[in-house]
Amino acid sequence: MEVRVLEGDPWAVPADVLALGGFEDEGLKGGLERVNQELGGVLAEALARREFEPKPLKTWSTYTLGRLLARQVVVIGLGRQSEFDAHSLRRVAGKLAQECQRLKAETVVFAVPAARMSVGEAAQAVTEGLMVGGWRFAGYQRDPEPVVSPRFALAFAAGERRAAEEGVRVGRIVAEAQNLTRELGWRPSNLLYPELLAKEAVRVAHASGLEVEVLDENRLAELGMGGILAVGQGSQHPPRLVILRYRGSKPQTLALVGKGITFDSGGISLKPAQGMEEMKYDMLGAAAVLGAMSAIAALKPSINVVGLMALAQNMPSGSAYKPGDVVRTFTGKTIEIRNTDAEGRVALADAVGYAAHLGVDWIVEASTLTGAAIIALGHEAAALIATDQLLAGEVVAAAEEAGERVWQLPAYPEYKELYKSPLADLNNSPGRDAGTIAGGLIVSEFAEGKPFAHLDIAGTAWTKAGPLNAQDQGATGSMVRTFVRLAHRLSRDLA
Ligand code: BES
Ligand code: ZN
Ligand code: MN
Repeated sequence: MEVRVLEGDPWAVPADVLALGGFEDEGLKGGLERVNQELGGVLAEALARREFEPKPLKTWSTYTLGRLLARQVVVIGLGRQSEFDAHSLRRVAGKLAQECQRLKAETVVFAVPAARMSVGEAAQAVTEGLMVGGWRFAGYQRDPEPVVSPRFALAFAAGERRAAEEGVRVGRIVAEAQNLTRELGWRPSNLLYPELLAKEAVRVAHASGLEVEVLDENRLAELGMGGILAVGQGSQHPPRLVILRYRGSKPQTLALVGKGITFDSGGISLKPAQGMEEMKYDMLGAAAVLGAMSAIAALKPSINVVGLMALAQNMPSGSAYKPGDVVRTFTGKTIEIRNTDAEGRVALADAVGYAAHLGVDWIVEASTLTGAAIIALGHEAAALIATDQLLAGEVVAAAEEAGERVWQLPAYPEYKELYKSPLADLNNSPGRDAGTIAGGLIVSEFAEGKPFAHLDIAGTAWTKAGPLNAQDQGATGSMVRTFVRLAHRLSRDLA
């Protein structure tokens, strides 16, 4: 999708669609007034008859029959002025992209509504919204329906062209990263198993100038990574640990770690058949790390960032790990397996332990770890469990800036009682109580005291509503934007 900043008057360029926003509490003002006048009062009538209400994301369109240079006008509801922020603007743009595709528009001029934010911020939010909202997984159909990818020209009220162009540049990088993650999420596990996802990581690393290392099953064994090996040992497809490196100019390093279970059948503790196909998405933490690293390579924050993707396929078989097994992880800590379906924490133990061993300053990990996270927060927010409140604050602030939602749960030391084991350092399946917290705390045990934050994205990584809660489904790219913002936030005020 092409997005550019329009030079000059949006009314003076021919286009398939001229798109305008309308506030609920503003009436027919500015561009809307002009549309109404030029089209003989049609908008006033549509409003009066409530055919169009400027509620958030509601749209209305009309042909102009030659009275304007644009073939069609699309008006999109913005809601109340006082509630309008970058997040609303991103969602409006996402909806607009979908509407323009529905109308089969090839060229669109969007008069970006004035908002209480800088032009650069607005341009970034609009670009992210258009590109994420307009993205579709290509699919595998023999005769796919042709998709129109409109070219968007953005018109801003204030003439800060340079700032707008910079915003579009950053927005494009971030949106492409998010869509990369979504693309990987959609792929089924017969076409994306650990070796292939590792290959994708190498391809992305080479294209974006990141250093990359792939540890195969032999190397994992040499390093004593008994957790990720155990999870993957039931599958024909062996596990991989991918390490991506971005080098900044400052000494501090952020580690981003992601769960990459390319299919989670549950293993010997087999999941029920209903909905099991969704477990192809159980690699979206790792895919978010990859997406974020690609954007970080392009946006160049000043700290170093290392990305770790823990890739394995959890299958039942004669060689699978079993309830009762005890595995030794990279850190030397042992885990008693009570449920082979609590595999994420077992694989992450090695990845997080390895991140700590690399001597990083912060570890932030994202995983589709527990169904309990969906029980707690639904699909609206990722659950945050942190052992360091300063880092937790940074993660919350980064998410806020990125227009994503995270909600912190407590990490009281009393919860550690839940995962004691009589024969190992801990057990992997503490039961129903505080399942999301226990899962996060189990992973934190391998951070060796480094500031650690865990994001459970089980509810947000894929949804029926899509990344902008607007008529879309499947992988969302949850936490890609937050990770990118976090790398920039942590770069601030550092020596
Ligand atoms: N990948 C699942 C968690 C999940 C379930 C994510 C549904 C999204 C939707 C994870 O590996 C898992 O199976 N977790 C178990 C943990 C339990 C056995 C301690 C769960 O949530 O039931
Ligand atoms: Zn899983
Ligand atoms: Mn599982």
